[in-house]
Amino acid sequence: MTRKHGRLGVLLPGMGAVTSTFIAGVELCKKRLGRPIGSLTQMQTIRLGKRYESRAPLIKDFVPIAALDDLHFGGWDLFPDSICEAARKCGVLSAEQIEPVARELAAIRPMTAVFDPSYLRNLKASHAKKYRSKWEAAKLVMSDIAEFKKKAKADRLVMLWCGSTEILPKPSPAHRSVTAFEKGLKDNDPQIPPSMIYAYAAIRMGIPYGNGAPNLSADVPAMVELAERTGSPIAGKDFKTGQTLMKTTIAPMLKARMLALRGWYSTNILGNRDGEVLDDPGSFKTKEISKTSVLDTILEPETYPALYGKYHHKVRIDYYPPRGDAKEGWDSIDIAGWLDMPMQIKINFLCRDSILAAPICLDLVLFLDLAKRAGLKGIQEWLSFYFKSPQCRPDLKPENDIFIQHLKLKNTLRLLLGEEVIDHSGLDYYDPVRGTPKSAPAPRSCSRPASLARACRLHHGKAACSTRNPCRR
Ligand SMILES: NC(=O)c1ccc[n+]([C@@H]2O[C@H](COP(=O)([O-])OP(=O)(O)OC[C@H]3O[C@@H](n4cnc5c(N)ncnc54)[C@H](O)[C@@H]3O)[C@@H](O)[C@H]2O)c1
Repeated sequence: MTRKHGRLGVLLPGMGAVTSTFIAGVELCKKRLGRPIGSLTQMQTIRLGKRYESRAPLIKDFVPIAALDDLHFGGWDLFPDSICEAARKCGVLSAEQIEPVARELAAIRPMTAVFDPSYLRNLKASHAKKYRSKWEAAKLVMSDIAEFKKKAKADRLVMLWCGSTEILPKPSPAHRSVTAFEKGLKDNDPQIPPSMIYAYAAIRMGIPYGNGAPNLSADVPAMVELAERTGSPIAGKDFKTGQTLMKTTIAPMLKARMLALRGWYSTNILGNRDGEVLDDPGSFKTKEISKTSVLDTILEPETYPALYGKYHHKVRIDYYPPRGDAKEGWDSIDIAGWLDMPMQIKINFLCRDSILAAPICLDLVLFLDLAKRAGLKGIQEWLSFYFKSPQCRPDLKPENDIFIQHLKLKNTLRLLLGEEVIDHSGLDYYDPVRGTPKSAPAPRSCSRPASLARACRLHHGKAACSTRNPCRR
């Protein structure tokens, strides 16, 4: 793995509520004026080896991720507000919270955006680029990126889409291959939305790309092909924050206990700009697809038709300005138990949308950069934990169960650093023949897939190797 030292430039298309809360939070944490609650990279530990070894370092001490002090921010928006103005307008953080970092936030001003009103009907851009073709727009974004890298003196870059939810494009031949996509850019194919232009620019330059909205952006064959070719890790789609976080936590419990589901009614009110955008039926449709698919992939109605074959699932989002970013979600869940006895679960989640999204942004930026340095490229399924609609190989079902996603993430970190994958069966603690005696070291065979061999070799090149599970490749 290449060094973590040096400046990491973080490029954010869309500098509204989520982005300003994320950046303000990082700046406050740098000054020790805030705590990064909700961030695995900053606060969670990872168990290594056997339980009796008592090895559980913080993730940030275990994996060589960038330090907060090394992050430098830039991005684009349809409006010219600095991050300080954006933070004040969106009203997530109080004036007292913004004040100590106001100077740093005021210095971050968005670059002009790539805008197409046919993909975003409820906003009118006042800070957009002028271009004749989408190809030209992509070139302009690439020169913005190069300019930012120079000015910020960044050694590495990461891009994370935090822009609005676009209306979904129709399937187009332009999405199928890099060659067709580049032709589509030159021909101004109407099925190429702005988010795909940013994604193309980043991936073309070998920059890792994450997508916090349900927009297709990098989730088409052309972008996957390009990412493989340029060695760019990609991950998406749609940050898993409020209601879907609840859904992907409760649904695995119902399935684990074989409790039946009759219906799940979810409704939300929110009053921020995201809510205003989602008030347009086109943008809502994109979000609805992302929100509704999770239950089916967790409950597997095809395997359990008697329990999950006929449940009714309804998702609503209503724009209600008085609430601003303080979203309120209600879930009314109709379940059935022993002898079909009906029961109900009610959830009333009064959450702060951007407060839940900001730590996800931080973790994604740090892990995507880590993935790039570890030589991983293309779809990063191990980051599914952070998304409502995780991108995965098209012939596979996405993994939505939050507990499996969490294991997947932590085991990938263990693999990357040459540690034993933990299967949690616990059998070997009780097996007198094959079991690991209390005093013996952990098994020393390497289970690392070939794709991680490069990271592994680099890790083992280090003088002080803490690995208990050395790689023999
Ligand atoms: N807040 C959450 O918890 C959460 C959860 C999941 C997903 N998301 C998604 O994250 C995104 C950001 O959410 P938010 O609350 O910050 O919204 P927001 O409306 O406050 O900010 C989005 C910003 O993107 C800008 N934008 C739109 N199109 C752009 C373009 N083509 N180029 C550059 N900028 C563009 C808008 O001007 C706006 O300032 C949305 O797509 C939202 O659906 C948010």
